[in-house]
Amino acid sequence: MKKLIIINGPNLNLLGTRETEIYGSLSFTEFLDELKTKYPNISIDYFQSNIEGELIDKLQEVGFSYDGIILNAAAYTHTSVGIGDAVKAIETPVIEVHISNTFSREEIRHQSFISAHAKGIVIGFGLQSYELAIQSIQ
Ligand code: DQA
Repeated sequence: MKKLIIINGPNLNLLGTRETEIYGSLSFTEFLDELKTKYPNISIDYFQSNIEGELIDKLQEVGFSYDGIILNAAAYTHTSVGIGDAVKAIETPVIEVHISNTFSREEIRHQSFISAHAKGIVIGFGLQSYELAIQSIQ
């Protein structure tokens, strides 16, 4: 059984109530339950933190044993050299995902410190971005 982890960065714990016109009204736990039901043959772990160092610690912890990491570093995508370095340092392939189309938003969101080190990128398909990333790893 393939072992994946979804890692979500800051403010994504508020999915379902936060800026619903951009991020939708489903909470991530509801969505995760749906994913687990839909993909019973894949082990899908989940981690969310609002703290940059905790995200780096988790990447290092899982980054040499898991089959894939689906990473939405949220706002840290655009600011964190440290998370970019962690993605570069680990062996497990990382798929960078974003719910919104970051390129249709403010210019600061066009830059990513992760993309250059990611295996691939899925941007702008709502929560379906996560599912497309899972399908790429299967
Ligand atoms: C996001 C896009 C980021 O720019 C933003 O800071 C987020 C969410 C997305 O999934 O669309 O928090 O990563």
